[in-house]
Amino acid sequence: MHFMLIFLLSVGLAVADGNQTANITFNGFQSANLSLDGVAVFTSNGLLKLTNGTTQEKGHAFYPNPITFKNNSSSSSNGTASSFSTTFVFGIISQYSTLSGHGIVFVLSPTRGLPGSLPSQWLGLFNDTSNGNSSNHVVGVELDTILDREFNDINNNHVGIDINSLHSTVSAPASYFVNNSTDYRNLSLISGKPMQVWIDYNGDEKRMNVTLAPINIDRPKIPLLSLSVDISPIVKETMYVGFSSSTGSLDTSHYVLGWSFAMNGPAQELSVSQLPKLPRIGPKHVSKFLTIGLPVIVVATVSVVASGLLYVVRRKRKFSEELEDWESDYGPHRFRYKDLYIATKGFTDKQLLGTGGFGRVYRGILPTSKIEIAVKKVSHESRQGMREFVAEIVSIGRLRHRNLVPLLGYCRRKGELLLVYDYMPNGSLDKFIYDQPKCTLSWSQRFRVIKGVASCLFYLHEEWEQVVIHRDIKASNVLLDADFNGRVGDFGLARLYDHGTDPQTTHVVGTLGYLAPEHTRTGKATRSTDVFAFGAFLLEVVCGRRPIDLKASPEDMILVDMVFSHWSRGELIQVVDPKLDGDYDPDQVELVLKLGLLCSNAEPEDRPTMRQSLQYLEGVLPLPDLSSLSLSSGGLAFANRERSVSHEGFSDLAISYPSSLDKGFSHSSSAAESIIHVGR
Ligand SMILES: *[C@@H]1O[C@H](CO)[C@@H](O)[C@H](O)[C@H]1NC(C)=O
Ligand SMILES: *[C@@H]1O[C@H](CO)[C@@H](O)[C@H](O)[C@H]1NC(C)=O
Ligand SMILES: *[C@@H]1O[C@H](CO)[C@@H](O)[C@H](O)[C@H]1NC(C)=O
Ligand SMILES: *[C@@H]1O[C@H](CO)[C@@H](O)[C@H](O)[C@H]1NC(C)=O
Ligand SMILES: *[C@@H]1O[C@H](CO)[C@@H](O)[C@H](O)[C@H]1NC(C)=O
Ligand SMILES: *[C@@H]1O[C@H](CO)[C@@H](O)[C@H](O)[C@H]1NC(C)=O
Ligand SMILES: *[C@@H]1O[C@H](CO)[C@@H](O)[C@H](O)[C@H]1NC(C)=O
Ligand SMILES: *[C@@H]1O[C@H](CO)[C@@H](O)[C@H](O)[C@H]1NC(C)=O
Ligand SMILES: *[C@@H]1O[C@H](CO)[C@@H](O)[C@H](O)[C@H]1NC(C)=O
Ligand SMILES: *[C@@H]1O[C@H](CO)[C@@H](O)[C@H](O)[C@H]1NC(C)=O
Ligand SMILES: *[C@@H]1O[C@H](CO)[C@@H](O)[C@H](O)[C@H]1NC(C)=O
Ligand SMILES: *[C@@H]1O[C@H](CO)[C@@H](O)[C@H](O)[C@H]1NC(C)=O
Repeated sequence: MHFMLIFLLSVGLAVADGNQTANITFNGFQSANLSLDGVAVFTSNGLLKLTNGTTQEKGHAFYPNPITFKNNSSSSSNGTASSFSTTFVFGIISQYSTLSGHGIVFVLSPTRGLPGSLPSQWLGLFNDTSNGNSSNHVVGVELDTILDREFNDINNNHVGIDINSLHSTVSAPASYFVNNSTDYRNLSLISGKPMQVWIDYNGDEKRMNVTLAPINIDRPKIPLLSLSVDISPIVKETMYVGFSSSTGSLDTSHYVLGWSFAMNGPAQELSVSQLPKLPRIGPKHVSKFLTIGLPVIVVATVSVVASGLLYVVRRKRKFSEELEDWESDYGPHRFRYKDLYIATKGFTDKQLLGTGGFGRVYRGILPTSKIEIAVKKVSHESRQGMREFVAEIVSIGRLRHRNLVPLLGYCRRKGELLLVYDYMPNGSLDKFIYDQPKCTLSWSQRFRVIKGVASCLFYLHEEWEQVVIHRDIKASNVLLDADFNGRVGDFGLARLYDHGTDPQTTHVVGTLGYLAPEHTRTGKATRSTDVFAFGAFLLEVVCGRRPIDLKASPEDMILVDMVFSHWSRGELIQVVDPKLDGDYDPDQVELVLKLGLLCSNAEPEDRPTMRQSLQYLEGVLPLPDLSSLSLSSGGLAFANRERSVSHEGFSDLAISYPSSLDKGFSHSSSAAESIIHVGR
């Protein structure tokens, strides 16, 4: 699994197995005998590389022998955990200077490796069922670079002490105290620079201290974290010590440069000058010669000189692996194109799932993991805004909600962006509600999808660390998973097309019929414009037809108008999809239709928020009475009566239709037609 290299660099290793004077030191891992699993490897220059630049993976490295932490409880000492001390130097290298995932944990575990643990936010420590369970017997110190709300993380750059749970007992932003507790410096864990951590537990004092500092700084006198804790009930008599690390949607590499550990006494200081060097983070424009050619020459020369011809053939293979590894640190892709190409059988038409608003979608199976994926190919000629866009989709990749289609990653090629999603076996919702000879989705399934989409939008608008505007909510962007749960997909893609456009010539991207009037007017997407689209979505799911149907009679062409006129005549229930054949809950249907009308209000401030919408749907709040809304100025100002799309030549066509329903239809129909023509 790993390689023993006979390099001459110094290694200090004093092993004391299963006794209380374990004293372990690795100044680099050139001849280290650690037990590795997951994607952890040793590099040829003696780094312990816990994650190898692959997304959604975990890596573990444990000292192979158990270490005695306490005498068993029947002995006189009553099972009190001994003191221990450890220090290590680490480095986190991410593809992007401002984004990373997920982190490194120094861990005491009852097992060598952490079976059943998950990557990503679980840091390779736990899974969703084991997290927080006292039967874990795990103590960890996490260096976490992602803010996870579910674990009450304080920020995306913190150090925490974890006891049986990722919900840290205590945590602090990555920093160190210079002279006293008011004078501190912040650190960035993902800076790519080596940093040192000291962890000390005193079994008499029952206190654990954690200290962090840049590698060139003496150990700060004041620890960053100092927690009064007795680990005796948590640790078992013997424990394994080591590291766990995981990646999320970004190919981040987590390295340990050196490590020492001791029971009942201070860990040996590391010899900084002997530690292996982290790979440099080169600027992206560095020539191929510098990133590939030069290292090959240097590495090859050094290896020949150091080890002689005997090993050359053997190592050549190894170096080519190392080169790949090295490339992946700087490579611009998170997913390798080759993998996506193999996965989708060369993007053949046979694998084509559909052609969406922004590109073609292919089905595939990832070669090694056998995970089923959907790959969306978005062609994008302009490089403008691409960097920001990629940063944005990467941050979107961190969103987690059961009604979201998980974005696994992306790959970027010249003029082309490939987005990799979890495969949704039942495809998009629109296929089930439009153009079907008979009903294929029952009312209860539809209602569940509606509530799922509402809860997802609420999460995006209010629950996540930043406000996320979807910009293109509609039935064809809602996918159904194996259990027919609605999952929102195609995030922020509209934004890619918004980037870099001149604000003078507003170019709105979205879908006609779902675009709020103020969105087409100002070009600005807001939470309210998402609510407007959600309203159109509600109506289409209940009525089983598109928001604008050119084949329908003029008075029925605009769905919201049709629903509104039926409501005003007290015949609301007549608009329900006839394919449901009367098989639905009339109260639920009425609720959804009325909410759809409320969300379609032309005045953004009169639309409900997603929080309110969700509460109405859940029955927590009663829906306001539609008729109590101001009708004095000639009816509700529903948006369709101001159907203006500032798009190319249409910016002057800001027709504000009079509010009475019997006017302007011939006009609006031609306008709608031409817009559809010019638009998408
Ligand atoms: C612990 O291990 C060290 C090194 O192997 C050995 O010298 C020492 O005697 C051992 N102590 C006990 C109590 O077994
Ligand atoms: C590494 O440690 C394991 C467990 O102690 C042992 O079985 C194995 O022989 C060691 N390997 C080397 C190369 O020392
Ligand atoms: C990372 O490790 C996994 C498992 O060993 C391997 O399949 C994958 O190709 C490696 N990725 C890179 C970029 O080295
Ligand atoms: C625990 O202590 C008892 C009595 O002192 C001893 O017989 C037993 O072997 C110990 N168990 C372990 C796991 O050390
Ligand atoms: C052992 O622990 C028990 C309960 O925690 C306590 O009552 C007892 O006094 C302890 N014995 C010793 C020798 O510390
Ligand atoms: C464990 O027991 C041994 C022998 O009784 C004693 O020397 C040692 O200090 C004890 N260790 C702890 C952690 O109490
Ligand atoms: C979660 O982890 C535990 C061990 O910590 C394991 O027994 C269990 O199977 C895991 N659960 C899942 C769903 O993987
Ligand atoms: C904790 O884990 C144990 C063993 O895996 C299991 O029996 C127990 O039900 C779990 N407790 C909780 C609260 O999940
Ligand atoms: C820390 O204090 C010492 C003297 O007490 C002073 O010389 C040094 O400049 C201080 N360091 C910083 C970073 O302020
Ligand atoms: C802490 O250090 C800063 C700067 O070195 C100094 O201004 C401050 O007075 C010190 N505070 C205490 C409590 O010593
Ligand atoms: C932890 O830090 C505090 C404050 O500096 C110190 O008093 C205590 O002795 C330290 N404890 C350990 C176990 O290092
Ligand atoms: C471990 O070894 C180093 C150097 O050999 C020594 O300085 C340190 O005190 C030792 N620690 C323990 C707990 O024996």
